[in-house]
Amino acid sequence: MIFTVAIDGPAAAGKGTISRAVAAEFGFAHLDTGLLYRAVGAKGGDPIVAARTLSPADLARDDLRSMAAGQAASRVAVIAQVRAALVDFQRRFARADGGAVLDGRDIGTVICPEAEVKLYVTASAEVRAHRRWLEVGGDEAQVLAEVIERDARDMTRADAPLRPAADAKIIDTSTLSIADAIGQAIAIIRAAL
Ligand code: C5P
Repeated sequence: MIFTVAIDGPAAAGKGTISRAVAAEFGFAHLDTGLLYRAVGAKGGDPIVAARTLSPADLARDDLRSMAAGQAASRVAVIAQVRAALVDFQRRFARADGGAVLDGRDIGTVICPEAEVKLYVTASAEVRAHRRWLEVGGDEAQVLAEVIERDARDMTRADAPLRPAADAKIIDTSTLSIADAIGQAIAIIRAAL
């Protein structure tokens, strides 16, 4: 069975948590596409070469989850040739037999516009920054500033800007519990299956 769940949205909105839960519920494969951009940013050197030569070892680095790696990812993610180098892998993953969940910024708009389910998971910048701050610590105002800066870069870039697909269902997690957000996503997918 070919069945793609595309989950897009801004940083720290809950995409990863929802994606993992949905993949486990339906037995689908899961790809965190942000990790690809984080690995390209962390590799250093020419980002286009890094994207074209990305290896499983690059994705296994243990420093890809930091705020700095997120910022580096969003800087290389504006480069059209970097994005182009990562398209085929993501498309093949999305349409492989057995069902797939991909989370990112452009899954429903660019990578898999034919996805059977498109979700746009969002929350206020303050709520997202607070969640991220609980994970990383430090100065909460600084975390908020970085979240806002990264969102702005992701939403205003020329190539594949972050925006909900016209047919995406919006899940705003600002005031939802994790269980309720996952429950909404599962109900939408079950109805489409
Ligand atoms: O989701 P995550 O925070 O890991 O993404 C890191 C960065 O990678 C994002 O801020 C965005 O610039 C970029 N990205 C992207 N397209 C995707 C996934 C991530 O441009 N599909």
